[in-house]
Amino acid sequence: MIKISVSASKQYNVIMEKGLMASSGDYIKEAFTLKSDPVTGKIRNKKLCIVTDANVDALYGGCDQALQASLSAAGFDIYKYVFDGGEENKNMKTICGILDFLANNKFTRSDLLLALGGGITGDVTGFAAATYLRGIDFIQVPTTLLAIVDSSVGGKTGVNLNAGKNLAGAFWQPGLVLFDPDVLDTLSYDIKLDGIAEAIKAGAIADPEIIDMIRNSTAAEDHGFLMEIAARAIRVKRKVVEEDERDHGSRQLLNFGHTLAHAIEKCSSFSISHGHAVAIGMDIVSAASQKSGWSDESCSGIITETLEKFSFPLKCPFSARELTEAALQDKKIRGAEITLVIPEAIGRCVLRTIPVEDLESFISCGLQSRKDK
Ligand code: GLY
Repeated sequence: MIKISVSASKQYNVIMEKGLMASSGDYIKEAFTLKSDPVTGKIRNKKLCIVTDANVDALYGGCDQALQASLSAAGFDIYKYVFDGGEENKNMKTICGILDFLANNKFTRSDLLLALGGGITGDVTGFAAATYLRGIDFIQVPTTLLAIVDSSVGGKTGVNLNAGKNLAGAFWQPGLVLFDPDVLDTLSYDIKLDGIAEAIKAGAIADPEIIDMIRNSTAAEDHGFLMEIAARAIRVKRKVVEEDERDHGSRQLLNFGHTLAHAIEKCSSFSISHGHAVAIGMDIVSAASQKSGWSDESCSGIITETLEKFSFPLKCPFSARELTEAALQDKKIRGAEITLVIPEAIGRCVLRTIPVEDLESFISCGLQSRKDK
């Protein structure tokens, strides 16, 4: 079992353990110091609503499956809200659906939500938890590597607006994060790569050991190995979140590769997934940083080599002009300057602000120097 304690505005544990779905009820009871009635076996006045999408529900959400069986045995009064998954449903309509469901079932401030799924489910459930009755507790049970490595920890919750991604949301930390590595069995290699990209990002920001482990790995899909790099990446994220929970400064380091990644996702109409786009984004930025003299000599080569170790498709099908236009349409980018995360060395990134008119030449320099490699 791996246990990582996070001390942000809320203190909570991230627990990773094989087979943990089957003991999730006990972990939740312990985390929220709940007791069941010795006669009825029920926890008094404790409703718990599982929020999940239809795909994940079919895999892990059924009442005869380990999670619900464990919650039921622990004495929770269980409800379930199933929504249609996908980025197009990460919106206020889904939030309103969840909030109405909770209100109609008379959930109170002492009841719980549980997000069962990937990053979208975690983000919408967290946002619903942050707003229902001005805030109730929630639990993250991520079912993808990407969600455990990144989105389930740190308390960023929210939805997309027509004007752009993640424009409405709240910082609302979970009370517990539970990850069962057995869920990796149901993920394709490509989906696992999305999580590996974020782990490589964490290594590049603050933990060179992750990069070494990946470069030297011989069993990329081994669950034990993936858990080790996930745990290291979570520790990197924990440190950053504990320093700057509300994203005013150092938390922006977690956006290494992300300005370009968001542009690549948008240019591809989201056919290139987030993790794959982050991999290409990190590769371009590190190449451009090296060419600009901002990184040490080996940094870009090591990042490319690490990404290639896992056979990430690194070819970027878009021009510097297209990427710049897409990046600057991002409603979160305002004013005359843009802040980029620059890898100065493996394990050390800094924030660097450049004029927006220099962005296209910076990206172009990155694209060109990758061709030269
Ligand atoms: N995924 C970036 C952050 O949590 O800040």
